[in-house]
Amino acid sequence: MKKVLIYSLILVGCFACNSSNQDFVLNNSNTMISEKVEALLAKMTLEEKIGQMNQYSGFMDFTGPQPKGGQQAKKYKDIEKGLVGSMLNVHGVENVKAVQKIAVENSRLGIPLIFAFDIVHGYKTISPIPLAEAASWNLSLIKRSAEIAAEEASAAGINLTFAPMVDISRDARWGRVMEGAGEDPYLGSLIAKARVEGFQGKDLGLPHTIAATAKHFAAYGFAEAGREYNTVDVGTTTLYNTIFPPFKAAVDADVKAVMNSFNVLNGIPATADQFLIRDVLKKKWNFNGFVVSDWDSVGELKNHGFAQDGRDAAKKAIIAGCDMDMESYHFIEELASLVNDGEVDLQLINDAVRRILTLKFELGLFDDPYKYLSKKREKETVYSQKFKKDILNIARQSIVLLKNNNQLLPLKKDHQQIAIIGDLAQDKTSALGSWRIASDDGKAESLVEAMQNYPATNSIRYAQGPKFIKGDVHFVKELNVNTTDKSGFEEAIKIAKQADIVIMNLGEHGFQSGEGRSRTKLGLPGLQQELLEAVYEVNPNIVLVLQNGRPLTLTWAEQHIPAIVEAWQLGSFNGSAIAQVLYGDYNPSGKLPMSFPRSVGQLPLYYNHLPTGRPNDPSQQDVFKSFYIDQQNTPLYPFGYGLSYTQFKLSNFSVNSFSESNEFKVSISVELTNTGSLFGTETVQLYIQDPVAQISRPIKELKSFRQVSLNPNQKKLINFLLSEKDLGYYLPNGDWIFEKGKFNFFIGTSSDTSLQAELNLQ
Ligand code: BGC
Repeated sequence: MKKVLIYSLILVGCFACNSSNQDFVLNNSNTMISEKVEALLAKMTLEEKIGQMNQYSGFMDFTGPQPKGGQQAKKYKDIEKGLVGSMLNVHGVENVKAVQKIAVENSRLGIPLIFAFDIVHGYKTISPIPLAEAASWNLSLIKRSAEIAAEEASAAGINLTFAPMVDISRDARWGRVMEGAGEDPYLGSLIAKARVEGFQGKDLGLPHTIAATAKHFAAYGFAEAGREYNTVDVGTTTLYNTIFPPFKAAVDADVKAVMNSFNVLNGIPATADQFLIRDVLKKKWNFNGFVVSDWDSVGELKNHGFAQDGRDAAKKAIIAGCDMDMESYHFIEELASLVNDGEVDLQLINDAVRRILTLKFELGLFDDPYKYLSKKREKETVYSQKFKKDILNIARQSIVLLKNNNQLLPLKKDHQQIAIIGDLAQDKTSALGSWRIASDDGKAESLVEAMQNYPATNSIRYAQGPKFIKGDVHFVKELNVNTTDKSGFEEAIKIAKQADIVIMNLGEHGFQSGEGRSRTKLGLPGLQQELLEAVYEVNPNIVLVLQNGRPLTLTWAEQHIPAIVEAWQLGSFNGSAIAQVLYGDYNPSGKLPMSFPRSVGQLPLYYNHLPTGRPNDPSQQDVFKSFYIDQQNTPLYPFGYGLSYTQFKLSNFSVNSFSESNEFKVSISVELTNTGSLFGTETVQLYIQDPVAQISRPIKELKSFRQVSLNPNQKKLINFLLSEKDLGYYLPNGDWIFEKGKFNFFIGTSSDTSLQAELNLQ
C-alpha cells in the first residue's frame, strides 16, 4: 500500500514538473504524445485500460435516467481503483478538484480524469439556443459564442463539452431541434465547423479551450414522427448527402470526440453500428478521436432487441467502435471477461484507450491535472460582464423578422403608449432555453425589464395575462400548462385598449423544447392563442414577439397580426436584444434555419426535397398530383427567410463557366442594392439544382451565401465561385460523383428564390 502511494506521488510529481515551456511545445507534437501514450499503455493492466473507457455521471446534475441508489460510493471507489476514465456532470473548481484528486492521488497510475459536461449554449452566461444562433448565419459570431462558452466552462474545470449537436432535423415535433443548426446540410456543416473551432481553439493545451463532441452519430434528427428516441429508417442517399456532412465537417475540423445516438438506424442501433462507426467514421473519415456512447445507450441495446444481456451489449458496442461507455456500466462489468474469454480482441481495447489517453495528453492533464482548477480564474470568469457585448450581439443577430406590415416596426421612441402582454415577458428563466444545465434560474434579462430601462420616453405598461405554466418546470414529464384559468385576460385587454401599440410576448416555455420534449401540436400552447385573439379584437396594432425552441404553426397570426418577430430563446441578454430590434437600434438580419410549417400534418417539411413524379400545379384542378386537399404544400415561412426594416433588391445576375486545372468552375455574380431608407444587412443565398442525374436530386440546395451590410442607396457586386465539389453529390453506395450536364442556379434572399439561370457544363 505504501509502495503504491509513493509510486502515485512520484507520478504526480512528474506530471507537475513536466509543465515547463519547453515540454509544452513537445507535448503538443503528435509523435511525442503517441510515444507517451504507448509508454503508459504498456504499464496498464487490462482492468485499468477498461477503466479509461468508463464514464460515470457525478451526482450534481442528471441528464439521463437516474442510477439506482447506493452507487455514489461505488463510483468514488472505482475512481480510486483506476476504473474510471471520465466523469460527466461534475463542474465547478472545488467539485472537480475533489474528484480529480481521487484519481490522481489515489489510483495506482494516477491517470487524470476528463471532466465532461453539456456546454450546449453556454455554461453560466447563456447565449441563444443553437437553433437561434444558426438563424444569424453569422459564422464568426457563432464561433465566438462557442469560444466564450469554452472560456467560462474551462474556468469551472470542464475539459470536454458534449456539443455541438450537428443532427440535421426536418421535423419540428422533435424537441431537440433547438440544439442543432436546422434542416440544411451545407449551413449545418459550416456551423459545425465554426462551433468545433470555437470550443477547441488552436491548441487544446491552452487554459481557455475545451474539447468538443459532435453528436449524435447518426440520424437522431430523423426519429419517426418526431417522437423522441424513436426508430429511424432512412436510405443511404439521405445519410451521405444530408445527415453525414455536418459530422464530416466536424471531423475535418479535428473534433476530439463523437457521441453515438440513441436511435436504431435501419434496424441497427447506432451505438453498435459497425458501418457507422468503424467503416465510415473511423476508416473512411480517418477520425482519430474517441467515440462516447450516449447515456446508457450501450445498455439500451437490450431494449432495442439487439443484445441479450449486458455482456452481449458491451461486446457489440466495442466491436462496432464505441470507445467509452457513458453510464451503462457494461464496459466496466463485462469487457475484461470478454477479452479473457477471447470474445473481444485486446487490440480493440488498446485502440480505444489510445484515443482517450491522447486527448488527456492534448489537454495537458498529464502536465498538470489541476491546470483548469484555479478558484481565482473561476471567480473572475464565470458570469463575467466582459462576455456581454458579444453574446448580446449574437442574440440580436439571431432574431428573425417574419412580418412587418405598415412599417409598424421599428417602434418610435417617444409619445407612445406601449402595452406589453404575456407571462413570458417577465419570465427571467424561460429565455435561457433548454440544455443550460449549469446556469441559474432567473438570470435572463426579461423583455419587460429591458423595455422599461430602454432610453426612450414611451409609457410602458405591462399585463401578465393568464399564468402560462403552473408549478415546477424542471425535469417534469409534462409542464403544467394553464388551459383553464383565465384570470389576467381582463387586465390585458384593458391595457391593450389604451395603448398605441401592443407587444405580445408569446411562445413556448424554455423547457417545452429540448430532450424528451416532443410535441404533436405546434400552435401557441395553453391560453396564449385565445389571449392573442382577444387582444386583437380590441387593438389590432400588435407586434407579436415569439419565443420558442422550434418552428411553430402560426397561420392565424400570419393572417391577422401586422408585425411578427421570431425571438427564440435568446439567453442571458434576451430582453436587451429584443428591445434593440424593436426600437430599430439593431435592424433585424436573421434568416430561418428551418422551414415553418402551416400545419403539423406537413411534417417533415424541408426546402431541399426531391421532385415527385406528379408535382403539384396549384393553378390546375387535377387531383392526381402530390398535394394535400386541405393545406398548401409550401411552408408558411421558408428556410432562409427573414425581413429587414430596409429593402433590398437583387439585379444583374450572371452565371458563367470556365475550366481550370481540368475542372469546371462556375462564377456567379449578382448586384445587391439597399433600396430602403435604413442601414441594413442582407444574406444573399445561392442555390443549385442538378435537374437530371443518376439519382433524383433535390429541387434546390444551398451552396453558398454572403452577408452584406449596406447604407441606403448603396450597392455591392457579390461574386460566388463554385467548383465541381459543390456541384457533385454522393451516390447511395457512398461514392462521390460529379456529373456533367445541365445545372440550374438560383439567387435569392430566402430559399424562395427570385433569380434563376441555367448552364450546360459539357
Ligand atoms: C443526451 C446527450 C447528452 C448526454 C449527457 C443524453 O441524454 O442525449 O446529448 O450529451 O445525455 O448529458
